[in-house]
Order: sequence, then structure tokens, then C-alpha cells
Amino acid sequence: MIAHTDPDYATVKQTAQANDTLTTLQPNQYVLPGFIDLHIHAPQWPNAGLALDRPLNEWLDTYTFPLEAKYQDTDFAKLVYDGLIQELLANGTTTALYFGTIHNAANLELAKACIQYGQRGFIGKVAMDNPEQTPDYYQDASAQVAVDQTEQFIHQLNELNQTTDLKQTPVITPRFVPSCTPASLQGLGDLARKYDLPVQSHCSESDWENGYALEHYHMRDADVLDHYGLLTDKAVMAHGTLLNDHDYDLFSQKQVAIAHCPISNVYFGNAVLPVNRVLAHHIKTGLGTDISGGYSPSLYQNIRQAVMSSRMLQDGVDNQLLPDKRGVDGSAISVKTAFYLATLGGAESLHLQTGKIAEGYLADLQVVSMQNDFQTETTDNIFEKLMYQTSKADINQVYVQGTRVK
Ligand code: GUN
Ligand code: FE
Repeated sequence: MIAHTDPDYATVKQTAQANDTLTTLQPNQYVLPGFIDLHIHAPQWPNAGLALDRPLNEWLDTYTFPLEAKYQDTDFAKLVYDGLIQELLANGTTTALYFGTIHNAANLELAKACIQYGQRGFIGKVAMDNPEQTPDYYQDASAQVAVDQTEQFIHQLNELNQTTDLKQTPVITPRFVPSCTPASLQGLGDLARKYDLPVQSHCSESDWENGYALEHYHMRDADVLDHYGLLTDKAVMAHGTLLNDHDYDLFSQKQVAIAHCPISNVYFGNAVLPVNRVLAHHIKTGLGTDISGGYSPSLYQNIRQAVMSSRMLQDGVDNQLLPDKRGVDGSAISVKTAFYLATLGGAESLHLQTGKIAEGYLADLQVVSMQNDFQTETTDNIFEKLMYQTSKADINQVYVQGTRVK
């Protein structure tokens, strides 16, 4: 964080001026790194806030797949994606790791919207070819189609990137183990190796998903993904709430990252990610909104929920008269840890030099103002209040790679 009196502010001011945008901070304004949303389903934006009380598989079948199928219509895709990217930038999100849909024309619209409005996107064509776990109106027709379309999208995005300095990165995206056949998982693992690209999926989010892997592969779902070469040092696995010690060792050894989605986990995860335990295993971890499993596009809201959820894992008051332990000591995370997840943790997961304000780092920044400008004697006070009280209206300016985008 940079206060207006901080010597580092000079560097930021210079960057902004170089882009013709004079940033003169007011006494109640502060500069923070832009946020990284490490897990978001762009096509689910129209459903944000709907049907959060349903179990995951029912939610997918009844609400999510019918919506995602609509992106067959490229005009609809453009309409939604143009609005979503502007909304995310307005919330301070300068980089996002996106699930798209199975449709490459729509996925390209997402990439074009990122370029047009100035966000760094990591975008995956969703692969889902298992006819038993996907509806016939929304599935890849075969494993070959899932893999070929993924490879086509890699080339299409590379071509689009010729036109811009703000590169959009293709991501290998098996939806999750139940949605895919062994053949598509194999083919996608081969593509990840061939092109040295990031991988994303859902892992250990629900008992249902883990049960599916055990029944069909006689392995936990993390082991299935690893078996097919999908757990690489560029892999980001959403949720991970039900990972066990064996999985933690696997993630740590393979340098796989976890996208913690605390709001979504309240509704679909049936558990809380023990962030401190994960970090103690040296597993890279960032923060995701998981729209529309999570209802909010704001990483501020997710920072708050990450702290609140972690406190519910913590044991109650230490009282000899009440011997029954209700939680696990050392579970609560600080707001600084949650902020780390939303910035540097996400950046490290994506191998990006961003997420902090320092020499050699990309100038992905947000300028925020504090309305309740009392009790701000220390930097810690200011920081804590910004994390808990900043709303979209308080985010005055946003920069991506030094270019003003809001
Ligand atoms: N597992 C498979 N697909 C999804 C999805 O769209 N959202 C969430 N939260 N979990 C999933
Ligand atoms: Fe998700």
C-alpha cells in the first residue's frame, strides 16, 4: 500500500503521468495493487446470486449448464462479456483466470472484451465430453472434439495476441473429473505439455466429485488429474476444500496452486479451506470469486469472507471446564493474509510479476479513497479499514500495465 506521503508514490505518479493521466492523490486516497481473480466462470455472470441453496450437481444441471449453452449465440456472449469485464475492472480486478464455455467463438469474444477494456485474461475453453455427466445440449461431441477445439483456441488466441500488448493466455480447462472421459483428460494433459500452458480445473470441492473419482478410477480426484499429467507447476485447482494430507503433499511436490473461493465454499464446498495449513505446506494459493458459485464479483468481499470463514474453523475460547474441542487452533487467518491471496498469491500462481508495488513489477494498480477517514493513525489501521470498508464506488482509478482502464 502506498500513502500519498510514501516516497514510492513518486514512481507510481510517474507511471501514471507517462500515460497522460495525472494522478494527484487526495489525502484520503491510497494506491493498492490490482486484484487477481484466480477462479471465475465468465459465462455464469447472469446467474450471480441465483440458486445458491441447491447441491452442486443439481445446480449445474438446472441452472448452470442451460445458461452456458446459450453462449452458442456469439452476440449474447459479447453482450455479457463486455459488461462483466467492465464490472470486474471497476471492482479493482486487473487479472482474471477464466473458465469460458465449450464454444470457441464465444471464448474469443471474452478475450476481445479483455483486450478492449484492458484486463489481463487467462482464458480456458471448457472441455466436457463425458456423455453420462453432461447434457446432450451442452457437451463436446467426443474426446477428440474436446481436445481439437482446445488446440484450435490456443491458435486463435495466439493470433489475436498479435494485435495487442496486453496478452491473453489460453488455459487447458477440463471442467472437472466427472465431466470428462479418460481420453479427453489424456489428450488435454498432452496439450498442456506440448504447449507448456497453464491448466485449471475444479478439485476436491465436494464429496460427490471425490466419490465419482473413487468409483470410476479407484483414486482420489487429485490423483486422477495427476495421472493424466494435469497437475503441473502451472496448474490452478479451484476450491480444494476436501484435500487431505496425501493431496497436500502431491500439490506441494508438483507445485500446483489452489484458488480459494470462500464465498462459493459457503454454499457448495461443504467445508472451509484451511488456508494456514495449505500455506504451511508451501502450496501456492490465491483468491477466486467463482462466479456464480459465489455471488459477488468483488475480491474485497472475498477477502472478508476468507477471514470470516477461517475464524469458524478456529477453536472456541480455551476453557478447561469445556474440554470438547470445537475447531482447530491456528486456523484463523489475518486480513493481511487474505489480501496476500488476492494479490501476490494469485500472481505467483500464474507466474506473473505483479501483485505488489515494487520495482520490476507490472503497474497493475487501484486508487481507492476512504470515506470514513477517522482513526487512521497507523498504516495497519488504514489498511484494515480499507479492506473492510472499500466499496466499488470508492475505487476511483484502475491501471493495468500502467494504462488507465477506469
Ligand atoms: N464443478 C464443475 N463445474 C463447476 C462450476 O461451474 N462451478 C463450481 N463451483 N463447481 C463446479
Ligand atoms: Fe468454479
